[in-house]
Amino acid sequence: MPFPSEKLREHRVDDTYSLVLEKEDLNSLYSRMIRYNLALLENDKPVAHFRTNTYEYTPVIAIKAESAALAQFEDWKERIISRPEKFIVYLKRQEKLKNDVYKPLPDPGYDAVIIQGSPRPDGNCAIMASWVVDTLNSMGRRTAVFQPDGMYIRPCTGCYQCYNYGHCVFLDDMREIYAAALSASLFVVISPVYTNTVPASLKAMIDRFQAYHAMNAVNDSRHTLSGLFISTSGRKGKENFSNVVPVIDAFMAVSGIKKKGQVLVDNIDEIYDVRSVPGLKKKIEKEVVKCLG
Ligand SMILES: Cc1cc2nc3c(=O)[nH]c(=O)nc-3n(C[C@H](O)[C@H](O)[C@H](O)COP(=O)(O)O)c2cc1C
Repeated sequence: MPFPSEKLREHRVDDTYSLVLEKEDLNSLYSRMIRYNLALLENDKPVAHFRTNTYEYTPVIAIKAESAALAQFEDWKERIISRPEKFIVYLKRQEKLKNDVYKPLPDPGYDAVIIQGSPRPDGNCAIMASWVVDTLNSMGRRTAVFQPDGMYIRPCTGCYQCYNYGHCVFLDDMREIYAAALSASLFVVISPVYTNTVPASLKAMIDRFQAYHAMNAVNDSRHTLSGLFISTSGRKGKENFSNVVPVIDAFMAVSGIKKKGQVLVDNIDEIYDVRSVPGLKKKIEKEVVKCLG
């Protein structure tokens, strides 16, 4: 469903082209979020855009979204009046460049995505990730494993531009994770508890899923996944997971991931090796099968 909108400005260039500025109400996504959509239309079909939204503007910035959008409309109008052919070619070329640069990666065709959240590539979370992979492989499911700590993932800067165009402004390794998540039906997060939450590199990935939410919301194509969370803590007692679980729950909720299973393994400082926990491998295999079903 498109967002409710109202036309703020219009300028007809000729029989073919016109400029239109619309105000779109994105309140269904976030309180007070308004997006301004300036488009060059060719036979009523948009061929170039400028978009801005109210969440981009911090309290100290003097200019706000509406004044920025109106100024952009006046700028385009002035330039289109003075040199119509040249400016239209320029706008279309800019649009093509943007689309080429931000083109999503091709569908990798995965059934499941596993996020191995520990910075240690061969620790207990990595061991449990290998059990999940083996289970999925034995069921013939194509599986991707990502270790955020070994990837180039820029932390989210809260620019909110993802709600303008449905993609993140950063072109880093998150693109692979977005493409994998969009293709899969199961999303597994395996993480150690770090200072009561997840390691920083995994948190960077989690925050960047804001753009995944935007991708689905802006393109009106909410992709749903089943979710499984597996975690280890050094200290003894399930209370050591009381912060990390809500972090994962919030992440999954915003990302359209329906959490169907969870395995929490405490006391790793004492146990040292998850392979020595009786029944743990079987328990994880069962959770994977349950979450797929
Ligand atoms: C920086 C850091 C912070 C940690 N914080 C906690 C914590 O708050 N609570 C806890 O029980 N264990 C904590 N641990 C222990 C880890 O959770 C434990 O070693 C981990 O489960 C091992 O997983 P891995 O072998 O996959 O890396 C911390 C470890 C590190 C290195």
